[in-house]
Amino acid sequence: MWKLGTKSKRAPRPSPEDRAGFFDDYPRFFDTSNTYAYRDRLNLRHEAIIAANRDVLDGARVLDIASHDGRWSFAALRAGATHVTGIEARKELVKGAEDNFAHYDVDPTTYRFVCGDVFDALTTEGLDVDVVMCLGFLYHTLRYNELFTHIRALRPRHLIVDTNVMPDQDKPVVRLVRDKTAKQQNAAADAFSHNGQALVGKPSAPAVRFMQETYDFEVEDIYDWHNLLAARPGVEGLADYRKDQRVTMRSRLAA
Ligand SMILES: C[S@@+](CC[C@H](N)C(=O)[O-])C[C@H]1O[C@@H](n2cnc3c(N)ncnc32)[C@H](O)[C@@H]1O
Repeated sequence: MWKLGTKSKRAPRPSPEDRAGFFDDYPRFFDTSNTYAYRDRLNLRHEAIIAANRDVLDGARVLDIASHDGRWSFAALRAGATHVTGIEARKELVKGAEDNFAHYDVDPTTYRFVCGDVFDALTTEGLDVDVVMCLGFLYHTLRYNELFTHIRALRPRHLIVDTNVMPDQDKPVVRLVRDKTAKQQNAAADAFSHNGQALVGKPSAPAVRFMQETYDFEVEDIYDWHNLLAARPGVEGLADYRKDQRVTMRSRLAA
C-alpha cells in the first residue's frame, strides 16, 4: 500500500471534549447540512482537523475555504481562533452558517462569511490570515495552480487540508471526474461548468503533497486516521478515511 512517508508526530489521542463528541454540544450542525453531517463523522473529523491542530489555531486568524454551514469555522473559533473568514459559494449555506453562529451566540466581530466563488474571493477580499483550512474542496476543482497561488499569496503560517483522494496511488496523479453542480456538496456552477456539470479532479495523496510542496508548503503532519479509528471501534460513516480514500494533512509555509 502507498505510504506518504511523513509519520504523524502527534498521536491522535482523543481530546477530553471529543470523548463526549464536540458536535454533541452543538447539534444544529447535524441538521444544517445534507453533506455527510453524521454524528460520528463530524466528531471524529473534529479530532483530526481541529483538535489535532489546536496549537496552530489558538490565537490565529483563520480562512475556511468552502465553509459550508460554518461547522469548521465554528470549531476553529472554539479552538481559540481569534477570527475566521468563511468563503462559500452557495448562499443557502452561508445563510445557514450565519444562523448557526447567531444561534450559538458567537461574537459577530469574530467572523465573516463571504458568499462567492473561492477563486474570486481569494483575490478580492483583502484577507489577512495565519491559517488556511481547505476542507472537502480539492476534489471539487481542477484549478489547483490558481488555488495554491492565491493561498500562498496570503502568506499563512499553516495550511490544513482534508480531502478525498485516489487510493493506492504512489504517483502524484489526478483523476478527472464530473461533479453535478446541483448537488450541495459538489463544485458550484461557474463560468467553466457546462450542462450542469463541472470538470473536477480527484488527486492522489502524493498529488496533494506535490501541490503543496510546489507552492512551498512543507507537509508537517499526516493525520493517523487508522490509529484514531482503531481507538473508536463501532464508529460509522468514516469508510473513506478507513480505506485511505481520504486524508487530513497539515503543512507549514516555508519562510
Ligand atoms: C464537500 S463540501 C465541504 C464542506 C466542508 N468544508 C467540509 O469539509 O465539511 C464542499 C463545499 O464547497 C462549496 N463549493 C464548491 N465550489 C465552490 C467554489 N468554487 N467556491 C466556494 N465554495 C465552493 C460547496 O458549496 C460545499 O459547501
